[in-house]
Amino acid sequence: MTGVTRSVSHLPHHGTNLTARTNYRQPDPMPADLLATPDLLRSVFRRHAAGVAVVTARGEAGPVGFTATSLTSVSAEPPLLSFGVGTGSSSWPAIAAADHVGVHILGEHQQELAATFARSGVDRFGPPTAWREGPEGVPVLDGVLAWLVGRVVARVPAGDHRIVLAEVVHGDPTGTGRPLLYHQGRFQRLGD
Ligand SMILES: Cc1cc2nc3c(=O)[nH]c(=O)nc-3n(C[C@H](O)[C@H](O)[C@H](O)COP(=O)(O)O)c2cc1C
Repeated sequence: MTGVTRSVSHLPHHGTNLTARTNYRQPDPMPADLLATPDLLRSVFRRHAAGVAVVTARGEAGPVGFTATSLTSVSAEPPLLSFGVGTGSSSWPAIAAADHVGVHILGEHQQELAATFARSGVDRFGPPTAWREGPEGVPVLDGVLAWLVGRVVARVPAGDHRIVLAEVVHGDPTGTGRPLLYHQGRFQRLGD
């Protein structure tokens, strides 16, 4: 395709010889294995290294909580965070009804805690999990790098999940340690 002049109006230099002036090249035909499949999203996000959090809430039958990598800082003014929660999860009924939620940033020393809060059918708040009742009655986990309690302001439908938006009302950023990460389907530590 060398030397072919293309008119590409959404790129700079439109109307010029792009081969000569830019690194632009014609897209290859889309290989079939890059088209959307049920596994494509999962495969791509295996490469997205993420910090590990635990989301908690006070339910009618006791505390609930789950390990989450979907925690995101959304807005500074007002201070908003979000996370996704599966509507099929055991935590969802309590999160659906909760006024407040807790989010906890786990340290690399808390891999077992992360696994416990992702495992089905176990008592996540029984020993050895150390926790206390925090602000607004929200369960707060011990030994984390940081935690926040937020007032739920929206639960946005998103496929088989809900995106929960919460306005931060309390928190403690002063825990010590290095962060726990999740990458390529495994809990990991920072390499440097
Ligand atoms: C690393 C990791 C990240 C996860 N992130 C989320 C998440 O962001 N949202 C979510 O709803 N579940 C997430 N899960 C799944 C939950 O931790 C948990 O396994 C799920 O809610 C099923 O719990 P249940 O057996 O109590 O229903 C994640 C699991 C792992 C291992």
